[in-house]
Amino acid sequence: MRTDAAVGCAVGLEDLVTEELGELGYQAEYIKPAKLLVRDVGSDDVVSLNYLTRQATRVFLMAWIGEAESVGDIRACADEVDYTQYMTPEQTFGVKGVRSGEHEFTSTDIGAYVGAAVVDCFQARHGVRVRANLDEPDVQFYAELRDSHFMITVNSTGESLIRRHARPFQHFAPMRPNLAATLLRMSSFESGVGMLDPMAGGGTISTEACMMVRKIPSGHFRDSFAFERLHCVDEGSYARVRAEALSQIVPCSTKLGACDKYARSVEGMRGNFAEQGFGDDIRTWEDMAETLDGIEVGEYDTLVTNPPYGVRIGNPRVVRRLYDAFPIAAMDKGIREIVVTTPRQANICHALTAAGYKVVEQRHFLYGGLWSWIVRAVAPDAPPAAS
Ligand SMILES: C[S@@+](CC[C@H](N)C(=O)[O-])C[C@H]1O[C@@H](n2cnc3c(N)ncnc32)[C@H](O)[C@@H]1O
Repeated sequence: MRTDAAVGCAVGLEDLVTEELGELGYQAEYIKPAKLLVRDVGSDDVVSLNYLTRQATRVFLMAWIGEAESVGDIRACADEVDYTQYMTPEQTFGVKGVRSGEHEFTSTDIGAYVGAAVVDCFQARHGVRVRANLDEPDVQFYAELRDSHFMITVNSTGESLIRRHARPFQHFAPMRPNLAATLLRMSSFESGVGMLDPMAGGGTISTEACMMVRKIPSGHFRDSFAFERLHCVDEGSYARVRAEALSQIVPCSTKLGACDKYARSVEGMRGNFAEQGFGDDIRTWEDMAETLDGIEVGEYDTLVTNPPYGVRIGNPRVVRRLYDAFPIAAMDKGIREIVVTTPRQANICHALTAAGYKVVEQRHFLYGGLWSWIVRAVAPDAPPAAS
């Protein structure tokens, strides 16, 4: 099988995902917000894109892409696809219709037209009627119409790639692992560069950091992927890609620190790290980000964190004081770089600058339906980021 693939990601981070895909050997093109196109991928590539990318959210196989405006167009496009490439007659399927713009039909109609085309295709080629299962299909198709731009895709991921960590402790505001990977990639973090998260909650950033420096594939803790059920993905592909990736894992030789104000979070993240097998790789302790009493001067090079926002939960004034104080503590401890995500862009930029850091990058992106920011700041004499 060779096909084009659409890689999903957060709106605003497409170029960073393109860069990561490039490092994995894939040339990605921007199709539209949150979607990148990787042309002509084979079975092992579908596995690699799912199993190795740290920032993507889903990988779709492109069954059809083009223009459609009317019901007739949708039906004609849907009839052109050979659905027997993706599923066997014994498997069940679902079609999710998605639509935006002005049309005389609904997203449910779009799903129904494509569903009928799937049934007709199997009837014509195998003489059997395939069964739909809208709740838990073996193979999930998407039929997405944005104005006149129409795509029929196959979900090769299943549940989003953000669901990837073994996390017995669920923090009340857990960060998405793909965003943690983005923050780390935007920082100078790499093997040998000490990384501290002083507001670590359930420890997502440190888990991702540990996986990155140990070269553990992002999909290591996933139970399953949808590609395991796709007819067009060779049975041996997953085993091959996994074996190759696992052979490259190395021990952790980088200083990783994760602390939090609350004992409950520290206990929880310890449980998470132990479950993930990273208990010996990440140091954990209780600390106040405003003082960072638990670390020595020069112990950590970069600070990567996701502080409380004080938007839905928390007192904005307390949060403001915290934002003002933690960059000062970081500067006192010789931390050369801070990468932080928050919707409170003005507050954090002001605090970083007041503490003596220079804001060198700001990025606006969509996170869980809310626009937010990633800000990177460096101490005046800090060397440039690795990238
Ligand atoms: C948004 S959560 C971080 C979530 C984390 N990234 C995760 O994935 O689980 C912010 C964390 O900051 C911690 N925190 C709040 N005030 C703090 C302070 N003054 N010092 C240290 N940690 C603090 C909270 O306990 C909370 O765990």
